[in-house]
Amino acid sequence: MSTVAPRPSSIAPAASLGAFIRGMQEVDVERVAAIERQSFTTPWQASTFRTLLGRTGAVLRVLEVQGDPVAGYALLWCIGDQGELANIAVVDELRDLGLGAFLLDAVMEEARARGVESIYLEVRTSNARARAMYASRGFEEIGRRRDYYEKPREDARVLVRRLEPTR
Ligand SMILES: CC(C)(COP(=O)(O)OP(=O)(O)OC[C@H]1O[C@@H](n2cnc3c(N)ncnc32)[C@H](O)[C@@H]1OP(=O)(O)O)[C@@H](O)C(=O)NCCC(=O)NCCS
Repeated sequence: MSTVAPRPSSIAPAASLGAFIRGMQEVDVERVAAIERQSFTTPWQASTFRTLLGRTGAVLRVLEVQGDPVAGYALLWCIGDQGELANIAVVDELRDLGLGAFLLDAVMEEARARGVESIYLEVRTSNARARAMYASRGFEEIGRRRDYYEKPREDARVLVRRLEPTR
């Protein structure tokens, strides 16, 4: 795991950025795809997100902040009591401000409300920032997938977060 630069001493909490989470809509998709291209070497197309809108089990959420209606997004698959976090990203210039964790917390809450008991995900071994975020939210490594990613070829760490039932 590569090292991550120290965090700035004053971190604006999500609340002070006017952050909130809402459902993704058709009008958001082009901007979501632009953040996707900025974030991943094998990005999903806008058409893929469009197809997923309204698909049963696909939870598509957008992070909105003051002055930016699409500052990040997440996609969670829910199947029965299992969830798979397929995608999460925050626009480059707003990273390290707590927004990724804010978005992840919201998605975890939504999963719990839908009866999901375990959320699984894969993350690049070299993605220290994402791995730090998942660790801070209680995700634990349960395995590795060899050569899972391309561009560059790299192993994935498989993580899981067990959720406490709502009641
Ligand atoms: C991964 C990503 C979503 C994180 O979003 P972010 O807004 O930058 O992250 P946050 O500022 O909310 O930080 C989340 C946690 O990560 C850790 N973290 C973040 N930046 C850190 C840094 N520079 N040093 C150490 N820990 C750090 C902290 O534990 C933090 O939790 P805390 O604020 O409760 O302490 C964002 O970096 C991103 O979009 N990356 C590109 C896409 C990507 O890699 N997605 C994940 C695919 S698996």
